[in-house]
Amino acid sequence: AVNLKGRSLLTLMDFSTSEIRYLLDLAKDLKTKKRSGIYNYQLRGKNIVLLFEKTSTRTRCAFEVAALEEGAHVTFLDSNSSQMGKKESLEDTARVLGRFYDGIEYRGYEQSVVDELARYSGVPVWNGLTDLDHPTQILADLMTIEEHVAKPLNKVKVVYVGDTRNNMTNAWMFGCAKMGMHFVAVGPKELSPSEEIMARSQAVAQETGAILEFDSSLTGVEGADVIYTDVWASMGEEAQIPERVKLLTPYQVNAALLEKAGNPDVIFMHCLPAFHDFETRMAKEQRDKGYDIREVTDEVFRSRHSVVFDEAENRMHTIKAVLVATL
Ligand code: CP
Ligand code: NVA
Repeated sequence: AVNLKGRSLLTLMDFSTSEIRYLLDLAKDLKTKKRSGIYNYQLRGKNIVLLFEKTSTRTRCAFEVAALEEGAHVTFLDSNSSQMGKKESLEDTARVLGRFYDGIEYRGYEQSVVDELARYSGVPVWNGLTDLDHPTQILADLMTIEEHVAKPLNKVKVVYVGDTRNNMTNAWMFGCAKMGMHFVAVGPKELSPSEEIMARSQAVAQETGAILEFDSSLTGVEGADVIYTDVWASMGEEAQIPERVKLLTPYQVNAALLEKAGNPDVIFMHCLPAFHDFETRMAKEQRDKGYDIREVTDEVFRSRHSVVFDEAENRMHTIKAVLVATL
């Protein structure tokens, strides 16, 4: 039987296929229970701290709601509200937080920070996004695929289109490798997946039967069950917007690209937040400078193929599963 008590979730690469399966099944069970108004308060008396060095809507709220619904208490700290990294080292911070809290969530830049928090705190640490990885997002995405695609995960083809060098691409390669899936990263050669991440994922894929590919041509989309995209410039990369728009405009997810899948049941997914119109301040500012940063059209975003809000909801159920399983 799977037992994840005391484990950190720094990357899905640390988890076996059956451990990931266990988390997905637990999330499904917790979602069903919530819908029926059943709460088991499995984290009563626990305290959790949420450390955010980057902004967040879904991840922060998912952790807060998940914890509170299970009876745990949360403390939220953004980068301006603690001594961490400025007046106090990471090691000392981790040791102190480990004395107060039963678990620590961290979102920020370097993967080494989340790894070190786990090393020194002595309590489970959960990666809420780094420049390298976004493992809790993949759990929600896999759950959503299982809800909307009538095939087992190891028969599903996910095509990620856009910036194929970012944290979401890495997280997808890890997740698909572990679950034996077919993953195609479609993007410009200049932004092709990191060779190191690809090699690590391929090593796992050899054991699970996963297929992991990169294709700079849009024909890579053919036969997709899932078309996935993410912003063209991740948090912290805003200065690169002009270059990214130039490279990625041909890879915008629009009706013509969706059509190339040749699958009437193809679903569209996005971790969100998404630029699909010019309603946000950032999209407007960039448009005024001459850059169209929409990675997906509003038409596709609002189409019957789009499952983005089910996906967003599943962040909460899967994060709750991670908390219940590891605490
Ligand atoms: N998908 C996701 O991580 O969203 P937030 O940045 O709002 O947490
Ligand atoms: N790649 C994006 C994901 C946001 C959830 C970023 O890092 O900003």
